[in-house]
Amino acid sequence: MKPGDAPPVVGQAPGRVNLLGEHTDYNDGFVLPIAIAQRTRVAMRPNGASGFTLRAEALGATAQFSFESPPPEHFASYVYGCLVLARAEGAEIPGLDISVSSEVPMGVGLSSSAALEVATLRGLRELLGLRLDDVRIAQLAQRAEIEYAQVRCGIMDQMASSLAATDRALLIDTRSLECRDVPLPARSTVLVLDSGTPRSLAASGYNQRRGECEAAAAQLGKASLRDVGRLEELDALPELLRRRARHVFTENARVLRAAQAADAAAFGQLMNASHASLRDDYEVSTPALDRLVSLLQAHPGVHGARLTGAGFGGACVALCRAGAEQQVADEVLARYRAAGHEGRQLVPGPQQAVAST
Ligand code: GLA
Repeated sequence: MKPGDAPPVVGQAPGRVNLLGEHTDYNDGFVLPIAIAQRTRVAMRPNGASGFTLRAEALGATAQFSFESPPPEHFASYVYGCLVLARAEGAEIPGLDISVSSEVPMGVGLSSSAALEVATLRGLRELLGLRLDDVRIAQLAQRAEIEYAQVRCGIMDQMASSLAATDRALLIDTRSLECRDVPLPARSTVLVLDSGTPRSLAASGYNQRRGECEAAAAQLGKASLRDVGRLEELDALPELLRRRARHVFTENARVLRAAQAADAAAFGQLMNASHASLRDDYEVSTPALDRLVSLLQAHPGVHGARLTGAGFGGACVALCRAGAEQQVADEVLARYRAAGHEGRQLVPGPQQAVAST
């Protein structure tokens, strides 16, 4: 059998939605994401050559590259980074034909890039018998994103894609990388709607917020904002940095409260408070996100709602009464449309909507 005739090995990984704990991961704090049903699949097989051919179905694009000649295409840099980092872990990587297909919506804050990185590394682990556990895979995936895709992210997305399940949330301490399963409140379900607005300022705004957090921690003499013990300590900061740090401090507290078996109503209140903090103290919301979140919060089938992911556009997450999510989505999106916006339902995705009763 020639190398190209072997059946491909397929690595898979899900996207994620973060329920609580936004902009806390790069401050060594706590996050509470859950995996979504939509997945990315990376099929790979040795091609008998020394280079790589990467086909991305969703983009209708193909890239060819090797270790010596990295791909100029941005979409290929995620996969290239994973290959380089797996090789640095000691793997002998042959030339490969790689094909990517994905159901994870792109560019809305559901971690399509983390799903691609984790799926690629899982494929390599299986193909080459690599001894990488799921936390190590998340760490390598995050490095691929930072060092090769040039996005200075925290580790939440890659940890969630690598370790979270779809039927319960995952509490992650992003300092120690310890994780604990947290069941969703009884009789509740997760709904994700896209605000339909692009995350145009996400990269510059994200880096600016990171810089502000680092400046706040430095002025307080702390290694990171995780080490702030009392809210009053923030009084020493100038006004802007105090608000940024207050978001991180209160958001960490909200995650820990939600993880202590909060009921649906209490969990929802924490999500609402998170949105207010992201809007007022952290200033990463937009008028469209605020509108969509208000419509969700006002619906009787919703326990709580907030923007999710980095902000500056993209998606909102709501905790709904189980069984009410489709009605919530239809009614809220109709009102959002009447207000002049174009939103859409992302989770439950189209393939699950029928079964979600
Ligand atoms: C993006 C980053 C994550 C995290 C969130 C904000 O999704 O990739 O690391 O910082 O923003 O919570």
